[in-house]
Amino acid sequence: MLRKILKYLVYPPKTISDKRLKEVFAGKWVVITGASSGIGEALTLRLINAGANLFLISRNEEKLKSLCSMAQEHSCQAHYCAMDLRQRGQLDSFCEELRSKLPEVDYLFCNAGKSIKRSISSSIDRMYDFDRTMDLNYRSLVALSLALMPSLRKTAGRIVYTSSVSSLYPFVPGWSAYHASKCAANAWCRTARREHGKLGVKVQIAYMPLVHTPMSDVNETYRNLPAYSADEAACILLKLAMSKKFCYKPWWAF
Ligand SMILES: NC(=O)c1ccc[n+]([C@@H]2O[C@H](COP(=O)([O-])OP(=O)(O)OC[C@H]3O[C@@H](n4cnc5c(N)ncnc54)[C@H](OP(=O)(O)O)[C@@H]3O)[C@@H](O)[C@H]2O)c1
Repeated sequence: MLRKILKYLVYPPKTISDKRLKEVFAGKWVVITGASSGIGEALTLRLINAGANLFLISRNEEKLKSLCSMAQEHSCQAHYCAMDLRQRGQLDSFCEELRSKLPEVDYLFCNAGKSIKRSISSSIDRMYDFDRTMDLNYRSLVALSLALMPSLRKTAGRIVYTSSVSSLYPFVPGWSAYHASKCAANAWCRTARREHGKLGVKVQIAYMPLVHTPMSDVNETYRNLPAYSADEAACILLKLAMSKKFCYKPWWAF
């Protein structure tokens, strides 16, 4: 009972009506990174229901293919690219292709991400951990945003970044790679917000609290804590994308 009350207070329920989603997203072109699992998958399912056209990105080809088939069964147009967003060469060539493939885009959800917990003293010979985390959580946001900027400008579109509420707080030991990458992305988005007039594209950040997904549930402590479901997190992203706000933060974050 106490757990239920705690969940209700700290993570008040999030939902959004299918009718409202259809009004806003039907027929719109939406690009989603990290669509194969957790928050990105839940977001994809909501958007399929809403009749959006989708371009899905992550590494798991089988999953992306099946989501695209589901979208097509719902009369949505859907494409995917199975790729590792940390591979700079691959990402740069993909970005070049993407511009011609998608001349008009309404929303780019940069949601793919990886968390890593390792102390700095255990990382002495592991510079690659920092490079990979930065490449996925920060560089892929910038590369895809720049590539799609002309296509997003045509529709006065939006870029929505899935950040973490933990990047707003005093940093907890063990999370240097993750927090540094999320903070770099936050800084990029906050600067883009200031340039909104010239960019013609709105950039938004969701400072997401704990969400039960394959990423967070690897950690036993997190698995047993109250948290949002992936679908509730998808509703947070969608509500933000429909609002005038710059960011989403849980009510208890300041
Ligand atoms: N869960 C939480 O508590 C929480 C809290 C705050 C913020 N977030 C953020 O929410 C976002 C989504 O995370 P999630 O919790 O939904 O985790 P998840 O279930 O593990 O999903 C992560 C997604 O990112 C994709 N991805 C991972 N590495 C990739 C790579 N190298 N190249 C391309 N795609 C890659 C994964 O697809 P493939 O494996 O198929 O590549 C998957 O679709 C992340 O940015 C995370 O930092 C999560």
